[in-house]
Amino acid sequence: MSSRITRLASRLWAAVLASALMAAVVSNVSAQTPAEIDAALKAAFAKFQNLQEGKNADYIPALAEVDSKIYGIALVTVDGKVYTTGDVTSEVSIQSISKVFTMALVMEEQGPDAIEKNMGVDATGQVFNSIVAVEQYRGSEMNAMVNPGAITSTSMVSGSSREEIWNKILATHSDFAGRQLAVNQPVFKSEAETNQRNQAIAMLMYAYGHIKSEPLRACDIYTEQCAINVNAKDLATMAATLANGGKNPVTGKQCMKTANVPKVLAVMATAGLYDDSGKWLYATGLPAKSGVGGGILAVSPGKFGIAVISPPLDAAGNSVKAQKTIADISNALGANPYAPKPAVVAAAKSTKKK
Ligand code: DON
Repeated sequence: MSSRITRLASRLWAAVLASALMAAVVSNVSAQTPAEIDAALKAAFAKFQNLQEGKNADYIPALAEVDSKIYGIALVTVDGKVYTTGDVTSEVSIQSISKVFTMALVMEEQGPDAIEKNMGVDATGQVFNSIVAVEQYRGSEMNAMVNPGAITSTSMVSGSSREEIWNKILATHSDFAGRQLAVNQPVFKSEAETNQRNQAIAMLMYAYGHIKSEPLRACDIYTEQCAINVNAKDLATMAATLANGGKNPVTGKQCMKTANVPKVLAVMATAGLYDDSGKWLYATGLPAKSGVGGGILAVSPGKFGIAVISPPLDAAGNSVKAQKTIADISNALGANPYAPKPAVVAAAKSTKKK
């Protein structure tokens, strides 16, 4: 009799453990209810909607013409749920956010060490198109999130023709977004006519042996990838794919090797917002990437991807509203991976009382 009771008790205990484990897994996907996530997006939208700081980029003439009032927020969880507020249908050019996905493509083709070996994975602490940063270490000791590293990444994509290379880059971006993306031709043309500084950077990276051939072609393909059009939902899906170990949570497509994801996120964390990356990480703890088109995406690993589009930028070239909005929402959702878990906070409190 007593052994039957023991067996029953141990089965009950196993069932309790299993359901606790399931609850932990589910809460890891998202600790909040859909209503709470929705409320966090709406609260941030209301808070920052009328903020009028910053200015559209104008060193690429077509970007000055983009509607400064576009303001859209999207969040996609790793279980594929999509939350949106504001204007999530207007498209802007992806610009520097593309650097993340071309870096991922190069790592897929050449292995995880290729980027580190060719241009490094260190923050430059300089503006995104710094020539001083190239000169300091002859094109080494930098990263794929700033222009010299990014043009070099583009030059590393394999292909026997420009068309083949370009198709791979566009397909990679489309897979991460979960739909076929297209190029904003006026933006591409406008930047191609005015990108002499990037051409000089490409030539320097060629002179120092990081770009192995056709530097001006690499610069031109890089310029085209920067002109890919995206909306806030596309960017959030791309971020969610990184949050989900490289598998697009909406389409189910594996877009990159899971093992490469932490390396891409590490470079985003240290250099995704250029010389303001430290300030950003201090405020949010999240790997992120900005573009001068006005978009920023951020990744909460294992939880969600979030993105905001709002074209006016600060002096470092990062969208003012997007930074404030993402920080507000991710902090409201407890997404900072460096923050102690609630159980640790509770334990610390009870220790203090004794
Ligand atoms: O190469 C450039 O200058 C642009 N196509 C991209 C720069 C950019 O997005 C920097 N971002 N904040």
